[in-house]
Amino acid sequence: MKPIYILNGPNLNLLGLREPAIYGSATLKDVEALCRAHAAGLGLSIEFRQSNIEGELVTWIHEAREKASGIAINAGAYTHTSIALHDALKAADLPAVELHLSNVHKREAFRHHSAIAAAVNGVICGFGPDSYALAISALSNLITTSKKG
Ligand code: DQA
Repeated sequence: MKPIYILNGPNLNLLGLREPAIYGSATLKDVEALCRAHAAGLGLSIEFRQSNIEGELVTWIHEAREKASGIAINAGAYTHTSIALHDALKAADLPAVELHLSNVHKREAFRHHSAIAAAVNGVICGFGPDSYALAISALSNLITTSKKG
């Protein structure tokens, strides 16, 4: 079975330090460990990456097209702006889940719109690091039933 790609966008490298009242105290390394353990429990392996560069995320989604069984993506602020990520997710033609640590709908209006939601199977937000575990569980079901984003 190919791994699932878990991709993280800008500023998520600062998780644990950045606005802890919103994003909590877990670091991205902690989230990666949670993802690895949760995926292993479902018989899945993961490729976990973070980039502050939109084009690098696009390239990784292209790579996933060949090398992954599905994609979970926290695109950070690019969620709200990136047609390039939308198009890449469409092109990947894989089961895909958009996720967020915070409940973006409880926050500023500019976070209520997602440019990528229409290119994925579904969206999970508001559960802190558990959003990642929920996204992996959802992907596992999508992969088993071969549903593509
Ligand atoms: C985020 C929400 C985005 O609005 C924000 O720009 C982020 C993090 C989240 O995980 O809650 O960087 O994607």
